[in-house]
Amino acid sequence: MSVRADIGGTAARLRSRLVRALVRGGTLIDPGWRDAFLAVPRHMFLPRYFQQRSGLWTAVEEGDPDWLTQIYADRVLVTQLDGDSTRWDVARATGPVAGAPTCSSSMPTIMAVMLEALRVNEDSRVLEIGTGTGYNAALMCFRLGDSAVSTVDIDETLSSLAVQRLIAAGFQPTCVVADGARGHPENAPYDRVLCTCAVPRIPLAWLEQTRPGGIVVTTLNRPLGAGLVRIVAGEGASGLGEVLADDGRFMPLRTSAPEVTWPSPDTTGSTRSTSLSAGVLSPTHPFEFFAGLGLPDVQAVGAAGDSVLLGHPDGSWARHDGETVTQSGPRRLWDEVEAAYEQWLSLDEPRRARFGITVTPERQEIWLDAPDNEHRWSLG
Ligand SMILES: C[S@@+](CC[C@H](N)C(=O)[O-])C[C@H]1O[C@@H](n2cnc3c(N)ncnc32)[C@H](O)[C@@H]1O
Repeated sequence: MSVRADIGGTAARLRSRLVRALVRGGTLIDPGWRDAFLAVPRHMFLPRYFQQRSGLWTAVEEGDPDWLTQIYADRVLVTQLDGDSTRWDVARATGPVAGAPTCSSSMPTIMAVMLEALRVNEDSRVLEIGTGTGYNAALMCFRLGDSAVSTVDIDETLSSLAVQRLIAAGFQPTCVVADGARGHPENAPYDRVLCTCAVPRIPLAWLEQTRPGGIVVTTLNRPLGAGLVRIVAGEGASGLGEVLADDGRFMPLRTSAPEVTWPSPDTTGSTRSTSLSAGVLSPTHPFEFFAGLGLPDVQAVGAAGDSVLLGHPDGSWARHDGETVTQSGPRRLWDEVEAAYEQWLSLDEPRRARFGITVTPERQEIWLDAPDNEHRWSLG
């Protein structure tokens, strides 16, 4: 038996174990997506990736111990750092490197959640934003056919590697190198748009290019809080949708927006005690989504049991270190967190699934329970 055939056999076994776990966990429901996850070899899209150890990134490639088991272990696997595809070679040659992930193959669980959220029909035509490795596009091609799938990535190197891997795996969607915020008007209208990066606001082009009644699924991100949303397109660039119960954390869509400068604590600031735990801003706490609505543009670093650092580009910062909080700048950010927390309690501690989203060319808003509720937050 050849080594390749052996990989194929082992991979098929590991893949079927992963799919069984996704089905058992209630994530994979639609048999069409289950068959796609069973059939499409994720390892063909991940001949190389990074693994994080002690804060640095180690280069892993096909043949390394654990290469295949990690691929079928329901993990997010980072494939590019700092927008530079040569970083992997550097890490392989000289040892682990530092860097910020700019491409990954997402956790199969969250991929399944998003694909299920799309509610495709057999004849749906789909636009994906963020081709990345090509694996998600391959799943969609398996389910819907090559001609139904268009996928856009801003990174030429990533896109061309994805095309090669898609062809090797037997798929030929339309792959485009472009800024996905503009969609891909040439193949519009679409029945579904799926963004596998995160956006602060919904690009109107996606709704314009979706048939009325079609669906857009994406993650929203702010410096604090994130949310997976499903929007039903209306006429033109409008839509009405819901925040899904499942959380989704994705890397942001790359834009030409200038880098934000976050303030860091200095010797200024007033200190007081607080009884509210910093853990309420942890991504696993149900308040965190609400906090992101009430404190737009506020970044939270290291929110854990008893410490967090908040910052706003206007120079405000707050450091919570257990029992005390120190604040400085034009705003008192921890005071604002406490006020938002009180409001969240008074509203009955709403979870994500109680929120919805309205998008029109004039405004984008998140609302609680109903679009005309007095509790609405602008997405800026
Ligand atoms: C999490 S990865 C996508 C994973 C991918 N769907 C897969 O199956 O491997 C995010 C991708 O979004 C791409 N991206 C970032 N900004 C973009 C933009 N403005 N337009 C299109 N793609 C973008 C990145 O280059 C990266 O490949």
